[in-house]
Amino acid sequence: MEILVTGGAGFIGSSLVYYHLTQGDTVHVIDDLSTGSLENLKEVLQHPKLKCHFVELGNFKNLSKLLQSIDLVYHFAAMVGVLKVVKDPIKVLDINIQETLFLLDAMRSIQSKARLIMASTSEVYGEKNIRILSEEHDARITSTLSQRKNYALSKLVDEAYCLSFFVTHDIQVTILRIFNVIGRNQTGAYGMVIPRFIHAALKNCPLIVYGSGQQKRSFCDIRDFISILAKIIHEPKTVGCILNIGHDEEVSIYDVARKIISFSNSQSKIKRISYMEAYGEEFDDFQTRRPDLTRLKSLIQFTYQWNLDSSLKDMIEYFRDIQS
Ligand SMILES: NC(=O)c1ccc[n+]([C@@H]2O[C@H](COP(=O)([O-])OP(=O)(O)OC[C@H]3O[C@@H](n4cnc5c(N)ncnc54)[C@H](O)[C@@H]3O)[C@@H](O)[C@H]2O)c1
Repeated sequence: MEILVTGGAGFIGSSLVYYHLTQGDTVHVIDDLSTGSLENLKEVLQHPKLKCHFVELGNFKNLSKLLQSIDLVYHFAAMVGVLKVVKDPIKVLDINIQETLFLLDAMRSIQSKARLIMASTSEVYGEKNIRILSEEHDARITSTLSQRKNYALSKLVDEAYCLSFFVTHDIQVTILRIFNVIGRNQTGAYGMVIPRFIHAALKNCPLIVYGSGQQKRSFCDIRDFISILAKIIHEPKTVGCILNIGHDEEVSIYDVARKIISFSNSQSKIKRISYMEAYGEEFDDFQTRRPDLTRLKSLIQFTYQWNLDSSLKDMIEYFRDIQS
């Protein structure tokens, strides 16, 4: 197969690149390296079947021409990370919406029959009072001044564009509402909680928990995420679907911090600060964000190989190696 990965130098995108190269596929990457890095691709940069284009997606010349040979597109390029989003809320809307439309238009212009996997997010649910989130629930965008919502809003508009291109132009899209994914190449630089905690624990610095710490999340190891995705791309019934994807085991952020301190034998303490101190704006965080995976499980079969403890231990070992 010939694959295009937008955001292919990022955390998830680079894992897709490795996966498809090991399958013998040819892989094209479009990435502007804004949050991704060459480091993520270092073991395959010279691979004869990897073609890298380090440019903003919207500035890619001849995208339609490239798409003519592509069987599968992963659209994972996006402006991400709460810190980046609240710092530049206009750019989030611009990049995430316009570049998705640019890609869809290019696919439409050549009547592409490629599969398109679009990375959306669990944040579109915006619902704070439902414990387990199903695709049947409505998406919800707050009408407060919070700038953080622009990320979810941009992804919701992307979803709407993708579904409309599916209905109107037969673009073979599957939308993934991704719950938290974790793993080795993830950076803590833009607010991702687990890498941030591990870096602090390894330096015996305080682990800074935002809000009460009682908010719960579900974390899926990147290797499980890629195995699930590998099944989705081969299941035609997933075309035209919105699918939750992630792990359905919940844990509080405070407990994640405690586990990381214990697994890394750190002397760190846990310190709580308000969202205002962390991001310069107050917001009502989701108290819980756990996926209902009924729809996904009705379409493909999978089992997890990793749980939170084994993923955390693996990440701690890796981060310790690269820090030393
Ligand atoms: N990691 C998660 O837990 C998670 C959860 C929900 C949704 N997602 C979605 O999955 C996708 C990948 O996330 P990630 O965690 O790997 O983040 P990431 O920041 O590591 O990856 C995004 C990649 O896109 C690139 N990029 C950004 N803007 C670009 C542009 N205009 N043109 C070309 N490249 C551009 C970045 O350089 C980066 O390599 C994103 O769309 C994100 O919204 C991730």
